[in-house]
Formats: sequence, structure tokens, C-alpha cells
Amino acid sequence: MDLERLKNLALEGLEKVTDRTSLESWRITFLGRKSVLAEFLGNLGRFPEAERRQKGIKANAIQQLLREAYGRKFASLGTSTAHIGALDITQPGKKISRGHFHPITMTLRKMIEIFRSMGFEVAEGPDIETEYYNFDALHIPSWHPARDMWDTFWLKPPIDMAKRRREISVHQRLDQRTSAWLLRTHTSPVQIRYMETHQPPIRIIAPGRVFRHEATDARHDFDFWQLEGLMIGAEVSFANFKFVMESFLKQFFSPDTALQLRASYFPFTEPSFEILMSCMICKGKGKMTGKKCSVCGGEQWLEMGGAGMVHPQVLRNVGYNPERVQGFAFGIGPDRFAMIKHKISDIRFFRSGDLRFIKQF
Ligand code: FA5
Repeated sequence: MDLERLKNLALEGLEKVTDRTSLESWRITFLGRKSVLAEFLGNLGRFPEAERRQKGIKANAIQQLLREAYGRKFASLGTSTAHIGALDITQPGKKISRGHFHPITMTLRKMIEIFRSMGFEVAEGPDIETEYYNFDALHIPSWHPARDMWDTFWLKPPIDMAKRRREISVHQRLDQRTSAWLLRTHTSPVQIRYMETHQPPIRIIAPGRVFRHEATDARHDFDFWQLEGLMIGAEVSFANFKFVMESFLKQFFSPDTALQLRASYFPFTEPSFEILMSCMICKGKGKMTGKKCSVCGGEQWLEMGGAGMVHPQVLRNVGYNPERVQGFAFGIGPDRFAMIKHKISDIRFFRSGDLRFIKQF
């Protein structure tokens, strides 16, 4: 084959190419796997050795030359007039919109950072819980009226429960633990899971999603966040709790934030308290420019969570001796913290998926 002639033919053909489609057919004809040149190179073995080498060098050089010419043509077509029409480089660039964290995520990060600075570690538990961890171990047996405090989403068991119970009944108490499945109604089960696997001293927080089968309004959602806290040791007192919570509120909101504890009831703490914080909008006055404060509704105080000293029965349930160790637990609502911090009037905005809301933060 006349390699020189093939080269000239290819280059002449390339000159006539004016668009990407014809360039691609040119490439297949002259540089493709089934092209004359590729076949020639593949059959070099037919020639005697001396000739083979010489022809091989020449054919490879032509192939290289054609590849380079193809590359130049490809690039030149890329800046053809037609292409400039599609991409006008004189136009100002499009603004790249950057995403950012959701206001609840930002709130959680801030809360975790403050508790970490006070020596608390972060623990986690599953969103899908068993009745045992969500209720029984927390001293809320099935007959207890306090179960009504948490309207529950019950789940169909994922496995044959009767079979499962037979399998595990050899383990102490495990048959109770798998009695039913639910979406956890609070983060307090993480206390139990953590104490079962760790020995005091304990100082943890457990942020997590919780679910309640209840009607929603501006301050209540059915899917929201809680942040649990637990501190257990030989001498952990309620004064310690007051100090931790007050320091936390002052750091999260402002140094003039005041804490108030009001007697309350939770089956897993004794005594139990409601955590109240002075309204940061009206500064605890209940009024703003002569009108009732819209955030606290004139109450001066805002309810932020529940707390108390861990009930001795809960300590026994995890194998601790309440004569030797004691401690406090609390559960606060990050959604409410985010609402107050950013003056958000309705909790349901958080999970509405409305970007006009999210983009404000
Ligand atoms: C509890 O869930 C207890 N587990 C808290 C606790 C932990 C007490 C440890 C003692 C020791 P409560 O149901 O009050 O408590 O909820 C705690 C906080 O979660 C509330 O103060 C509120 O901030 C938030 N919260 C409760 N229900 C909702 C709701 N439907 N929507 C948004 N936030 C809520």
C-alpha cells in the first residue's frame, strides 16, 4: 500500500470537514479500528523482517500525524461560530448558589458544641425502638397512665415475634424488650441503652429525632428533635444540673438569660422539673412596646424541656446500685431553641421543604 498516498488523501479529506459529524466519520475511516491504516499495521507480520521494521515506523508516524491533525480540527470546530452562538463568553456568568445547613442542624451543632465544652460526650440510639426501652425500662409499664403523655406510633413487628421470643427467652428479661416496636417518642431510651453498656461516671448528651402521634400546631410537630442529657456519678447533685443548664442557656442565648425550674412529673425522674427560660425577646417582662410579647404570650417564661434526678428504679433496671450512684437527666427541644433564636413563628416551617424559608438563614 502507498502510505504516502493514504496520508495525502486523509489530510485532503480533513480539510473539507466543517462539522463534528463529518469529523467523526473521517476519524472512523482513517483512524478507526477497521481503517486501512489499522489493518496495515495489524498485518505487518507478512513482510520480511527488514521491511517490516521500516514500514512499521512509517505507518506509525503517519498515524501519529493524522491523530494530531484530528485533534487540531476537533479543537477548531469547538470554537466555530455556531458554537460561540451557544456559549456567549461576553455574557456575565451565572451566580452559583451555595447551599447551607438547615437552621435545625445549625442549632444542634451549637448545642452540641456547648455541651462538649462542659465535658459531655455524644451518644446515639435508634429511631425505631422497642416498647421496653421507650417505656418499661424508664419505669413506665404498660398499665401506667403516664403512657398517655406520649402518643405513640406503633409499628408492625418486622419479624415473627412469637418465634423471636422463643429464641431469646433464655436471656433474662429479653422477652419483654421485644414486646412491640414503635417510633421512639422521646430520646430518653438512649439513657437506658447507654447505661446498660457503660459504667459511671457518665456524662452524655443524645440528640435525635422523635415522633409523636399528635395533631400539629405552631409549637407542636409530630416529627421533631430532642436532646437528652444524662450525668451519673457518686455525687452528682441537682445543683450540678442547675449549673449545667444555666451555663448552657446563657451560652446559647445570652448572658442575661435566667433559668427557672417548676415542679413537674416524669415517671423516670424523682423529683421532676420543667425547664423554663426567661423570654429572650421581651427580656422576661412579658411585654414589648406596650403589647403582650408574641413569643412568650405575656408569660415571661418559655418552657424548654423536662428534667429531674434519675429515678432509683431506672438505675436498678440497668444494673446500677442507687445507693452508690445517682444523677440527673434532662430532655430539651432543639426545634423550640431554633424557633426562639431565629424568631420563627411556626415549627412546621422546618420540615415544610419550602426553600424560601430555608434560604433566609
Ligand atoms: C420528655 O419527652 C422527656 N423525655 C424529657 C425528660 C428527659 C424529662 C429526661 C426528664 C428527664 P416532654 O414530653 O415534655 O418530655 O418533651 C420535652 C421537650 O420536647 C419539650 O419541652 C419541648 O421542648 C419538646 N417537645 C415536646 N413535644 C413536642 C412537639 N410535639 N413538637 C416540638 N417539640 C416538642
